[in-house]
Amino acid sequence: MAQKTQRTPNHSLPNVVEGEGQVDSSFETSSYQNDPSSFSTAIVGGGDEPYYSDSETASGERKPLLGTSKRGMERLSESEHPQNNCNDPEFTLIIRAAEQAIDCGVYPERIYQGSSGSYFVHNKEKKIIGVFKPKNEEPYGHLNPKWTKWLHKTCCPCCFGRSCLIPNQGYMSEVGASHVDEKLGLKIVPKTKIVRLVSDTFNYTGFDRTLASSKKRAADRFPDTIGKHVKLGLPPKVGSFQLFVEGYKDAEYHLRRFENEHLPAKTLKNFQFHFEKLVCLDYIIRNTDRGNDNWLIKYDKTPVVADTKTESTNEEEEDWDLVEPPEVYIAAIDNGLAFPYKHPDSWRLYPYHWAWLPYAKQPFSDEIRELVLNKLENMDFVQDLVDDIYQLFKEDRGFDRSLFEKQMNVMRGQILNLTEALRQQKSPLELVQLPPVLVQKKKLDGRIHRSPNETYTQSFHEKRPFFSWC
Ligand SMILES: Nc1ncnc2c1ncn2[C@@H]1O[C@H](COP(=O)(O)OP(=O)(O)O)[C@@H](O)[C@H]1O
Ligand SMILES: [Mg+2]
Repeated sequence: MAQKTQRTPNHSLPNVVEGEGQVDSSFETSSYQNDPSSFSTAIVGGGDEPYYSDSETASGERKPLLGTSKRGMERLSESEHPQNNCNDPEFTLIIRAAEQAIDCGVYPERIYQGSSGSYFVHNKEKKIIGVFKPKNEEPYGHLNPKWTKWLHKTCCPCCFGRSCLIPNQGYMSEVGASHVDEKLGLKIVPKTKIVRLVSDTFNYTGFDRTLASSKKRAADRFPDTIGKHVKLGLPPKVGSFQLFVEGYKDAEYHLRRFENEHLPAKTLKNFQFHFEKLVCLDYIIRNTDRGNDNWLIKYDKTPVVADTKTESTNEEEEDWDLVEPPEVYIAAIDNGLAFPYKHPDSWRLYPYHWAWLPYAKQPFSDEIRELVLNKLENMDFVQDLVDDIYQLFKEDRGFDRSLFEKQMNVMRGQILNLTEALRQQKSPLELVQLPPVLVQKKKLDGRIHRSPNETYTQSFHEKRPFFSWC
């Protein structure tokens, strides 16, 4: 049953009813003026220019992939991101190493436990250096190699897949999550960027393979004509490339271990801080797939000898008198099912699985508040984040501006809730119980403007799920 709710961060919101996509008409909606002096919760800030140019959506190329023919999708992805251009020299070196390895016959290998076409990429020395997820092999991409996903998509499309997500943009979501992580200084998402790779071990259609071998035969036969002008080989695939992190295991493994084995107080505090960073990331991007198999923990119990001897006051700490307590790290991987354009509906909620862990019952620590609260409260910071994500997402040929705006309405709403929870030192468990909210830019003259006096509409989604699985 929908309930009327009015929550105001630190400022009162005059009530203005405005419909928003899937929000139930009985939800209470409010709007507020974005006057920085009138409230302390920053949602977005403004410059003077119009937000986005209209020409960006005018071209048919920007139409969403939904409904596009298979061949069409393939052609589009081939022409996207023509080169592995990246202004990060370290990352570029890693991509070069991957390309050289492929040239030498050290091919990426499929990760069999994954839910889609994900590949471990090696360097020439056969060391794993990254995880590549091609766009057209995503869970519901047309070249997904897993027959179970094909069966889901074909036989029961309404029960599988995630209706709140834009299809076939998982690779963008991976890259977006990495950017949010970097911008907030969380340092838990291994760096992820968009690249193009080609490998015989990727899943290609029979047509692509036949075409590639015919071209090769023709080029071998006529090296001076066809051989010089025809692009040989299989088409490169565009996808996300995430740096491989070493020494980590699935969170599930370590979480079980931590149930029986007490962590030293300092290690536990450190783990709690990293855990809260994961909570902030997932909440902001509204990750719909954060099971305990989709984050990793590194916990190396081998203690480091301490320089100075410290006095122990606690019996449990005695063992750690002479050595530094072990370090613990978290890696948030598999962020491809985030950035929904609407909140999950009432029958499939896609809960955050960390909410059931005991760490989620602790109030947010001072450390996490220090790290992110100032940024999230800053209107310009949030607007910059939105602009950066726009720059990333618009590179996809299926980019749709209106869907992007909806994605950002969800994200701003999530930031609003998170800011409030951090300020009030709620726990992650209390955070996930807050009613989902959308913060939408109000259109002036039918267009979205960025101006110092921007108006936003805030709407609450109060419906409780009647059924949920993930
Ligand atoms: N960046 C990474 N560093 C180390 N291991 C990784 C990384 N990304 C994925 N893995 C490993 O590969 C497995 C599958 O990756 P995941 O991203 O979950 O793929 P899928 O989308 O197919 O579920 C993970 O459970 C993890 O063990
Ligand atoms: Mg996974």
